[in-house]
Amino acid sequence: MAIRMTTSPVTFFQSKLTDSFPSSKSHLRSRGNVKYTMMASTIGSSSPKVESKKPFTPPREVHVQVTHSMPPQKIEIFKSIEGWAEQNILTHLKPVEKCWQAQDFLPDPASDGFVEQVMELRARANELLDEYFVVLAGDMITEEALPTYQTMLNTLDGVRDETGASLTPWAIWTRAWTAEENRHGDLLHTYLYLCGRVDMRQIQKTTQYLIGSGMDPRTENSPYLGFIYTSFQERATFVSHGNTARHAKEHGDLKLAQICGIIAADEKRHETAYTKIVEKLFEIDPDGTVLAFADMMRKKISMPAHLMYDGRDDNLFEHFSAVAQRLGVYTAKDYADILEFLVGRWKVADLTGLSGEGRKAQEYVCGLPPRIRRLEERAAGRAKEGPMMPFSWIYDRQVKL
Ligand SMILES: [Fe+2]
Ligand SMILES: [Fe+2]
Repeated sequence: MAIRMTTSPVTFFQSKLTDSFPSSKSHLRSRGNVKYTMMASTIGSSSPKVESKKPFTPPREVHVQVTHSMPPQKIEIFKSIEGWAEQNILTHLKPVEKCWQAQDFLPDPASDGFVEQVMELRARANELLDEYFVVLAGDMITEEALPTYQTMLNTLDGVRDETGASLTPWAIWTRAWTAEENRHGDLLHTYLYLCGRVDMRQIQKTTQYLIGSGMDPRTENSPYLGFIYTSFQERATFVSHGNTARHAKEHGDLKLAQICGIIAADEKRHETAYTKIVEKLFEIDPDGTVLAFADMMRKKISMPAHLMYDGRDDNLFEHFSAVAQRLGVYTAKDYADILEFLVGRWKVADLTGLSGEGRKAQEYVCGLPPRIRRLEERAAGRAKEGPMMPFSWIYDRQVKL
C-alpha cells in the first residue's frame, strides 16, 4: 500500500478506519480470527423519543479488528525468557520510594504559601500561548487514558496478567509500568487545573469519552506487535514531552519545563525496557520479529489517543495533532526519526539468515524512514496555511492549525 503523507502527522498515522462505513447500523461478522465490526459513529444520532432505552455506545468505534494472529506455539518463547525478563526488564522499574510524585512539582495545599505559589504558577502560565495549552491538554488526556493502555498490554498472549496480581515478570512489569505512568496524568491534570487557562470540564469529558472508546493499536494479541508498538510509543511520548518542556523553558516557565521534562525522563526509561524486549526477540526469532516490525509499520503506528472526542469536534484528534505538528511538539519528521532510531537500535540492516519474506520485510523497514521523509517534505512544500479552529479545551478560543 502506498504511503500517504500530509502536513499533519495524524493523517499519516491514522488508518482511516471510520471513512468507509457510513451505515448507522452495526454488524459483526467473523472470518477465522478476523472480526469485522462495522459501526458508525453515534455522535449526534440520539432520538428524542427513545432516549432512556438506548444502550450506551462508545463515541468512536473501530471497524476491522484482527485477533490472535501469532501462532500459539510462539507463546512458549515468552514463557522461556521469563528469567531473562526478571533480570533485564524489571531492573528498569524504579522502587516507589525513589520515584517522584506529582506533589513534588506542585504547590503544597497544606503549606501557608499555597495561595502565593498558585498565583505564581498562574502568572507563569499567562506567558504561554493558547496553542501550547491545546497541546498540553491533548497530551494530558492521552496520559489520562491509562486504563486503556493497561488493557492493551493485557490483550497480549503469553505476557498478560492472568489474575490481576500475577507474579510473572511480564505482569509485574505491566502493573508497575502502569503505576509509574499514572503519575504523568496526575501531574499534568493538577497543573492544568491550577493554571486557570483551560476548561477543565471539557478536558475531563474528553478523557471520559476517550477511555470509553479505547484504542486500536492493531497489535492482534501478539506480544511481537505489542512490544514494537510500545517501543515506538514510549519514544514518541519522550519526544513530545521533551518538546513541551523545551517550549515552556523558551517562554521562561522553568517549573512547567521541569514538569514536562520529568515525565519525558520516565518515557525514556520505559522506551529502554520495551526496546530491550524487542532486541531479545530479534535475537531469538529474527525472522518473526522483522516480519512483525514490517507489519506494524505497514499498518502505521496509530497514536494512543486516536479515538479522542470532546462531545463537539468530530475531528478533534486531527486538529490537536495539527497544532502539535505546527508547534513542533510532535511531527511527521519525528515519526520518521523514531522509526530510523528503532531500525538502528535493533540493527535491522545487519540481520542475516532471514527467509525470503524476512529479507523483504528487512528491506521495507530499512528503506521506510527516507521514504517517509521525502513524502513529508513534498507534502510540506504543498501545505497551505492552516485554518483557525476553536478548541473546547480553551473555551472555544481559536487556534491556527
Ligand atoms: Fe506517560
Ligand atoms: Fe509512557
